[in-house]
Amino acid sequence: MTNTLSGRDLLTLADFSVAEIRLVLDTAHAQKTAWAAGERDTPLAGMSVALIFEKPSVRTRVSFEVACARLGATPIVLSGADSAFSRGETVADTAHVLERYCEAIVLRTFEQSKLDEVARVASVPVVNSLSDDHHPCQGLADLLTIEEHLGRLEGVKLAYVGDGNNMAHTYLHGGALTGMDVRIATPAGFEPSEAIVNEARAIAARTGATITVTSDPRAAVEGADVVATDTWASMGQEDEHVERLRAFAPFRVDDVLLDHASADARFIHCLPAHRGEEVTEEVIDSDRSIVFDQAENRLHAQKALLSLLLG
Ligand code: CP
Ligand code: NVA
Repeated sequence: MTNTLSGRDLLTLADFSVAEIRLVLDTAHAQKTAWAAGERDTPLAGMSVALIFEKPSVRTRVSFEVACARLGATPIVLSGADSAFSRGETVADTAHVLERYCEAIVLRTFEQSKLDEVARVASVPVVNSLSDDHHPCQGLADLLTIEEHLGRLEGVKLAYVGDGNNMAHTYLHGGALTGMDVRIATPAGFEPSEAIVNEARAIAARTGATITVTSDPRAAVEGADVVATDTWASMGQEDEHVERLRAFAPFRVDDVLLDHASADARFIHCLPAHRGEEVTEEVIDSDRSIVFDQAENRLHAQKALLSLLLG
Protein backbone atom coordinates (compact mmCIF):
# COMPACT_ATOMS: atom_id res chain seq x y z
CA MET A 1 0.00 0.00 0.00
CA THR A 2 1.27 3.51 -0.76
CA ASN A 3 2.12 5.58 2.30
CA THR A 4 -0.84 7.95 2.61
CA LEU A 5 0.35 8.87 6.12
CA SER A 6 3.38 10.91 5.04
CA GLY A 7 3.10 14.41 6.53
CA ARG A 8 -0.13 13.64 8.39
CA ASP A 9 -1.19 14.31 12.01
CA LEU A 10 -2.51 11.78 14.54
CA LEU A 11 -4.85 13.57 16.96
CA THR A 12 -7.38 10.74 17.43
CA LEU A 13 -7.42 7.21 15.99
CA ALA A 14 -10.37 8.27 13.82
CA ASP A 15 -7.96 10.50 11.84
CA PHE A 16 -6.78 7.31 10.14
CA SER A 17 -8.77 5.17 7.71
CA VAL A 18 -9.20 1.42 8.18
CA ALA A 19 -6.46 0.90 5.56
CA GLU A 20 -4.13 3.36 7.33
CA ILE A 21 -4.55 1.57 10.67
CA ARG A 22 -3.68 -1.64 8.83
CA LEU A 23 -0.62 0.05 7.31
CA VAL A 24 0.67 1.10 10.76
CA LEU A 25 0.09 -2.37 12.21
CA ASP A 26 1.71 -4.19 9.27
CA THR A 27 4.68 -1.81 9.39
CA ALA A 28 5.04 -2.36 13.13
CA HIS A 29 4.85 -6.17 12.82
CA ALA A 30 7.48 -6.08 10.02
CA GLN A 31 9.82 -3.67 11.83
CA LYS A 32 9.56 -5.65 15.08
CA THR A 33 10.50 -8.86 13.27
CA ALA A 34 13.35 -7.13 11.39
CA TRP A 35 14.76 -5.62 14.60
CA ALA A 36 14.68 -9.03 16.31
CA ALA A 37 16.55 -10.45 13.30
CA GLY A 38 19.30 -7.86 13.79
CA GLU A 39 18.39 -5.36 11.03
CA ARG A 40 19.41 -1.83 11.98
CA ASP A 41 17.95 0.65 9.45
CA THR A 42 17.97 4.33 10.37
CA PRO A 43 15.52 5.87 7.86
CA LEU A 44 15.07 9.07 9.90
CA ALA A 45 18.79 9.83 10.32
CA GLY A 46 19.37 13.58 10.66
CA MET A 47 15.78 14.31 11.71
CA SER A 48 14.59 15.61 15.11
CA VAL A 49 11.32 15.07 16.96
CA ALA A 50 10.02 17.41 19.68
CA LEU A 51 8.42 15.46 22.55
CA ILE A 52 6.42 17.84 24.77
CA PHE A 53 4.99 16.65 28.08
CA GLU A 54 2.55 18.81 30.04
CA LYS A 55 1.62 15.73 32.15
CA PRO A 56 3.90 13.04 33.63
CA SER A 57 4.92 10.00 31.60
CA VAL A 58 7.11 6.91 31.80
CA ARG A 59 6.09 4.60 28.93
CA THR A 60 5.26 7.23 26.35
CA ARG A 61 8.37 9.29 26.93
CA VAL A 62 10.79 6.36 26.99
CA SER A 63 9.17 4.47 24.11
CA PHE A 64 9.15 7.58 21.88
CA GLU A 65 12.78 8.39 22.78
CA VAL A 66 13.87 4.83 22.03
CA ALA A 67 11.79 4.73 18.82
CA CYS A 68 13.56 7.91 17.64
CA ALA A 69 16.95 6.47 18.56
CA ARG A 70 16.28 3.25 16.66
CA LEU A 71 15.14 5.20 13.57
CA GLY A 72 18.22 7.45 13.69
CA ALA A 73 16.25 10.59 14.71
CA THR A 74 17.10 12.81 17.68
CA PRO A 75 14.34 13.15 20.31
CA ILE A 76 14.13 16.55 22.04
CA VAL A 77 12.14 16.31 25.29
CA LEU A 78 10.46 19.40 26.76
CA SER A 79 8.74 18.77 30.08
CA GLY A 80 8.04 20.32 33.47
CA ALA A 81 9.41 23.84 33.82
CA ASP A 82 11.02 23.55 30.35
CA SER A 83 7.77 22.59 28.68
CA ALA A 84 6.87 24.44 25.53
CA PHE A 85 3.65 26.50 25.58
CA SER A 86 4.56 28.43 28.71
CA ARG A 87 5.90 31.90 29.56
CA GLY A 88 2.98 33.61 27.82
CA GLU A 89 4.02 32.86 24.24
CA THR A 90 1.08 31.94 22.03
CA VAL A 91 0.63 28.32 21.06
CA ALA A 92 0.96 29.33 17.42
CA ASP A 93 4.27 31.15 17.94
CA THR A 94 5.77 28.20 19.80
CA ALA A 95 4.57 25.78 17.11
CA HIS A 96 6.08 27.96 14.36
CA VAL A 97 9.43 27.96 16.18
CA LEU A 98 9.44 24.20 16.76
CA GLU A 99 8.65 23.46 13.12
CA ARG A 100 11.89 25.27 12.14
CA TYR A 101 13.96 22.77 14.16
CA CYS A 102 11.97 19.54 14.25
CA GLU A 103 10.38 17.26 11.66
CA ALA A 104 7.50 16.34 14.02
CA ILE A 105 5.84 17.54 17.23
CA VAL A 106 4.57 14.95 19.74
CA LEU A 107 2.44 16.55 22.45
CA ARG A 108 0.93 15.28 25.73
CA THR A 109 -1.47 17.85 27.11
CA PHE A 110 -4.86 18.44 28.72
CA GLU A 111 -7.32 19.89 26.19
CA GLN A 112 -7.75 18.23 22.81
CA SER A 113 -8.30 21.76 21.45
CA LYS A 114 -4.63 22.59 22.07
CA LEU A 115 -3.57 19.67 19.89
CA ASP A 116 -6.05 20.79 17.24
CA GLU A 117 -4.54 24.28 17.33
CA VAL A 118 -0.94 23.07 17.09
CA ALA A 119 -1.89 20.78 14.21
CA ARG A 120 -3.70 23.62 12.43
CA VAL A 121 -0.74 25.97 12.52
CA ALA A 122 2.29 23.62 12.35
CA SER A 123 3.64 22.58 8.98
CA VAL A 124 5.07 19.33 10.42
CA PRO A 125 3.16 16.24 11.64
CA VAL A 126 1.60 16.59 15.12
CA VAL A 127 1.00 13.48 17.24
CA ASN A 128 -1.25 13.28 20.30
CA SER A 129 0.69 11.39 22.98
CA LEU A 130 -2.31 11.68 25.37
CA SER A 131 -4.94 14.30 25.97
CA ASP A 132 -7.91 14.36 28.33
CA ASP A 133 -9.98 12.87 25.49
CA HIS A 134 -7.77 10.51 23.48
CA HIS A 135 -4.65 8.30 23.64
CA PRO A 136 -4.23 7.15 20.04
CA CYS A 137 -0.59 6.00 20.36
CA GLN A 138 -1.68 3.65 23.16
CA GLY A 139 -4.54 2.53 20.93
CA LEU A 140 -2.16 1.53 18.11
CA ALA A 141 -0.01 -0.45 20.56
CA ASP A 142 -3.08 -2.18 21.98
CA LEU A 143 -4.36 -3.19 18.53
CA LEU A 144 -0.88 -4.53 17.71
CA THR A 145 -0.83 -6.53 20.96
CA ILE A 146 -4.33 -7.96 20.53
CA GLU A 147 -3.51 -8.99 16.96
CA GLU A 148 -0.28 -10.67 18.10
CA HIS A 149 -2.05 -12.65 20.80
CA LEU A 150 -5.33 -13.49 19.06
CA GLY A 151 -4.19 -13.53 15.44
CA ARG A 152 -7.04 -11.23 14.42
CA LEU A 153 -8.90 -8.01 15.25
CA GLU A 154 -12.13 -8.36 13.28
CA GLY A 155 -14.87 -9.83 15.45
CA VAL A 156 -12.77 -9.68 18.64
CA LYS A 157 -14.98 -9.09 21.68
CA LEU A 158 -13.30 -6.24 23.57
CA ALA A 159 -14.71 -5.27 26.97
CA TYR A 160 -13.49 -2.07 28.62
CA VAL A 161 -14.62 -1.70 32.24
CA GLY A 162 -14.10 1.53 34.20
CA ASP A 163 -14.01 5.25 33.52
CA GLY A 164 -15.41 6.65 30.27
CA ASN A 165 -12.08 8.44 29.72
CA ASN A 166 -9.41 8.90 27.05
CA MET A 167 -8.81 5.12 26.93
CA ALA A 168 -12.52 4.33 26.59
CA HIS A 169 -12.69 6.81 23.70
CA THR A 170 -9.60 5.30 22.11
CA TYR A 171 -11.07 1.77 22.29
CA LEU A 172 -14.32 3.06 20.78
CA HIS A 173 -12.46 4.44 17.77
CA GLY A 174 -9.92 1.61 17.49
CA GLY A 175 -12.49 -1.16 17.91
CA ALA A 176 -14.87 0.47 15.43
CA LEU A 177 -12.13 0.88 12.80
CA THR A 178 -11.00 -2.74 13.11
CA GLY A 179 -14.44 -4.39 13.18
CA MET A 180 -14.51 -5.42 16.83
CA ASP A 181 -17.46 -6.09 19.15
CA VAL A 182 -16.73 -3.24 21.60
CA ARG A 183 -18.44 -3.17 24.99
CA ILE A 184 -17.84 -0.24 27.34
CA ALA A 185 -19.09 -0.51 30.95
CA THR A 186 -18.91 2.56 33.20
CA PRO A 187 -20.75 3.72 36.31
CA ALA A 188 -23.63 6.13 35.71
CA GLY A 189 -22.24 9.64 35.44
CA PHE A 190 -18.87 8.44 34.05
CA GLU A 191 -19.98 7.44 30.55
CA PRO A 192 -17.82 8.11 27.49
CA SER A 193 -18.55 11.25 25.47
CA GLU A 194 -21.77 10.88 23.50
CA ALA A 195 -20.16 12.56 20.49
CA ILE A 196 -17.33 9.99 20.43
CA VAL A 197 -19.77 7.08 20.88
CA ASN A 198 -21.70 8.44 17.89
CA GLU A 199 -18.49 8.75 15.84
CA ALA A 200 -17.65 5.14 16.70
CA ARG A 201 -21.15 3.99 15.70
CA ALA A 202 -20.83 5.81 12.36
CA ILE A 203 -17.49 4.06 11.70
CA ALA A 204 -18.95 0.73 12.89
CA ALA A 205 -21.76 1.00 10.32
CA ARG A 206 -19.05 0.77 7.62
CA THR A 207 -16.76 -1.85 9.20
CA GLY A 208 -19.24 -4.31 10.75
CA ALA A 209 -18.11 -3.44 14.28
CA THR A 210 -20.67 -3.28 17.09
CA ILE A 211 -20.64 -0.72 19.89
CA THR A 212 -22.36 -1.28 23.25
CA VAL A 213 -22.29 1.17 26.17
CA THR A 214 -23.67 -0.17 29.45
CA SER A 215 -23.47 0.32 33.21
CA ASP A 216 -23.32 -3.48 33.75
CA PRO A 217 -19.70 -4.74 33.93
CA ARG A 218 -20.76 -8.41 33.83
CA ALA A 219 -22.80 -7.92 30.68
CA ALA A 220 -19.83 -6.18 29.05
CA VAL A 221 -17.37 -8.92 30.00
CA GLU A 222 -19.66 -11.87 29.10
CA GLY A 223 -17.73 -14.02 26.57
CA ALA A 224 -15.11 -11.30 25.97
CA ASP A 225 -11.81 -12.19 24.28
CA VAL A 226 -10.05 -9.16 25.77
CA VAL A 227 -10.84 -7.33 29.00
CA ALA A 228 -9.36 -3.86 29.46
CA THR A 229 -9.41 -1.31 32.23
CA ASP A 230 -7.62 1.90 33.22
CA THR A 231 -7.12 4.09 36.27
CA TRP A 232 -10.29 5.42 37.88
CA ALA A 233 -8.77 8.89 38.33
CA SER A 234 -6.79 10.11 35.35
CA MET A 235 -4.02 12.70 35.44
CA GLY A 236 -5.66 15.99 36.39
CA GLN A 237 -8.44 14.24 38.41
CA GLU A 238 -6.36 13.46 41.51
CA ASP A 239 -8.73 15.50 43.72
CA GLU A 240 -11.63 13.19 42.81
CA HIS A 241 -9.73 10.01 43.70
CA VAL A 242 -11.50 9.19 46.99
CA GLU A 243 -14.99 9.90 45.70
CA ARG A 244 -14.29 7.87 42.58
CA LEU A 245 -13.15 4.81 44.61
CA ARG A 246 -16.70 4.45 45.88
CA ALA A 247 -18.43 4.88 42.52
CA PHE A 248 -16.07 2.52 40.69
CA ALA A 249 -15.76 -0.34 43.23
CA PRO A 250 -18.22 -2.63 41.34
CA PHE A 251 -16.11 -2.10 38.20
CA ARG A 252 -12.87 -3.59 39.60
CA VAL A 253 -11.48 -6.29 37.32
CA ASP A 254 -11.06 -9.30 39.62
CA ASP A 255 -11.19 -13.07 39.11
CA VAL A 256 -14.97 -13.15 39.66
CA LEU A 257 -15.58 -10.62 36.88
CA LEU A 258 -12.98 -12.18 34.58
CA ASP A 259 -14.70 -15.59 34.96
CA HIS A 260 -17.50 -14.18 32.79
CA ALA A 261 -15.04 -13.67 29.90
CA SER A 262 -14.04 -16.43 27.48
CA ALA A 263 -11.87 -19.16 29.02
CA ASP A 264 -8.71 -17.86 27.33
CA ALA A 265 -9.48 -14.14 27.66
CA ARG A 266 -6.53 -11.73 27.84
CA PHE A 267 -6.31 -8.81 30.27
CA ILE A 268 -4.86 -5.47 29.11
CA HIS A 269 -4.16 -2.16 30.88
CA CYS A 270 -2.34 0.84 29.43
CA LEU A 271 -0.55 1.30 32.81
CA PRO A 272 0.21 2.79 35.27
CA ALA A 273 -2.05 0.37 37.19
CA HIS A 274 -3.38 0.94 40.68
CA ARG A 275 -3.31 -2.57 42.09
CA GLY A 276 -6.31 -3.25 44.33
CA GLU A 277 -8.30 -0.43 42.72
CA GLU A 278 -9.25 -0.97 39.06
CA VAL A 279 -7.53 -4.39 38.93
CA THR A 280 -6.54 -6.98 41.51
CA GLU A 281 -3.01 -8.35 41.89
CA GLU A 282 -4.36 -11.80 40.96
CA VAL A 283 -5.57 -10.58 37.58
CA ILE A 284 -2.69 -8.30 36.58
CA ASP A 285 -0.10 -10.89 37.64
CA SER A 286 -1.96 -13.86 36.10
CA ASP A 287 -1.00 -15.60 32.88
CA ARG A 288 -4.04 -13.96 31.25
CA SER A 289 -2.40 -10.56 31.66
CA ILE A 290 -0.43 -9.26 28.66
CA VAL A 291 0.25 -5.79 30.04
CA PHE A 292 4.01 -5.88 29.53
CA ASP A 293 3.73 -7.08 25.92
CA GLN A 294 1.32 -4.17 25.52
CA ALA A 295 3.81 -1.73 27.09
CA GLU A 296 6.63 -3.04 24.86
CA ASN A 297 4.45 -2.54 21.81
CA ARG A 298 4.26 1.21 22.49
CA LEU A 299 7.79 1.26 21.11
CA HIS A 300 7.04 -0.80 18.00
CA ALA A 301 3.77 1.00 17.19
CA GLN A 302 5.32 4.47 17.57
CA LYS A 303 8.41 3.51 15.61
CA ALA A 304 6.13 2.43 12.74
CA LEU A 305 4.03 5.59 13.14
CA LEU A 306 7.03 7.95 13.02
CA SER A 307 8.57 6.17 10.05
CA LEU A 308 5.29 6.53 8.12
CA LEU A 309 4.52 10.15 9.12
CA LEU A 310 8.10 11.24 8.37
CA GLY A 311 8.65 8.83 5.45
N1 CP B 1 0.35 4.23 29.14
C1 CP B 1 1.00 5.42 29.19
O1 CP B 1 0.78 6.34 28.40
O2 CP B 1 1.93 5.49 30.19
P1 CP B 1 2.70 6.82 30.64
O3 CP B 1 1.67 7.78 31.18
O4 CP B 1 3.68 6.34 31.66
O5 CP B 1 3.37 7.41 29.43
N1 NVA C 1 -6.49 7.63 31.61
C1 NVA C 1 -5.12 7.75 32.07
C2 NVA C 1 -4.19 7.11 31.08
C3 NVA C 1 -2.74 7.13 31.50
C4 NVA C 1 -1.82 6.55 30.48
C5 NVA C 1 -4.77 9.21 32.27
O1 NVA C 1 -5.16 10.03 31.42
O2 NVA C 1 -4.15 9.54 33.27
